[in-house]
Amino acid sequence: MINAIGLTNPGAEAEASCWLKPRPSSGRWGATDGQHLCRHRGRVRPGGPGGGHAQPDLIEVNISCPNVGDEFGTPFAGSCASAAAVTEAVRQAVACPVVVKLAPNVPDIARIAAAVVEAGAAAITAINTMPGMVIDVASGQPILSNRVGGISGPALKPIALRCVYEIARPCPCRSLHSGVSTGRDAAEMLMAGASLVGVGSAVYYRG
Ligand SMILES: Cc1cc2nc3c(=O)[nH]c(=O)nc-3n(C[C@H](O)[C@H](O)[C@H](O)COP(=O)(O)O)c2cc1C
Repeated sequence: MINAIGLTNPGAEAEASCWLKPRPSSGRWGATDGQHLCRHRGRVRPGGPGGGHAQPDLIEVNISCPNVGDEFGTPFAGSCASAAAVTEAVRQAVACPVVVKLAPNVPDIARIAAAVVEAGAAAITAINTMPGMVIDVASGQPILSNRVGGISGPALKPIALRCVYEIARPCPCRSLHSGVSTGRDAAEMLMAGASLVGVGSAVYYRG
């Protein structure tokens, strides 16, 4: 699978208003960057009911989306320094656990994982999609209007497996993983060192 959707979510204000209504307390947030999230920190407060504040059990900080215009060339997940800086900024802004989602297309993902754990991440999500491209040979044009997009699903699994393995070896922190379509895939990921299993693209293929 390849997509160029980017970050489709209604934003912090809409999320906070949702939390005023009864709903299971297992919300997960997407945020474009730490500064953006910190601007909304008054709306993110764990514990205590309502009051116009979102109360997530954790916040996943996506510093690795390949489909966001202003991240092209400079994703936070691309260096230890920038990944640690955004982790630290978010961690200081909120009281709930902070999970950081990393990119596969870096020279040493284990070093970046160690840097964000050092900066206060409670867990790592491994991994975001891998940048790729598909061309329609009849038209000679890229199939995605964005030209490039992120590869997920079965094609991503061996890359995710390698990333989980490299992260889990030195890092005591929990890691989640991508590319799973079957129970066997999940077993492989747990063997590589993952402690939780995420299922994304498989929902499209298998419901
Ligand atoms: C259609 C689509 C949209 C996605 N949008 C996001 C997003 O907004 N933020 C994000 O961090 N990851 C996004 N992803 C990446 C997934 O969260 C996940 O990291 C990736 O698909 C690998 O997992 P999978 O192989 O189980 O799908 C998207 C993936 C797909 C297929």
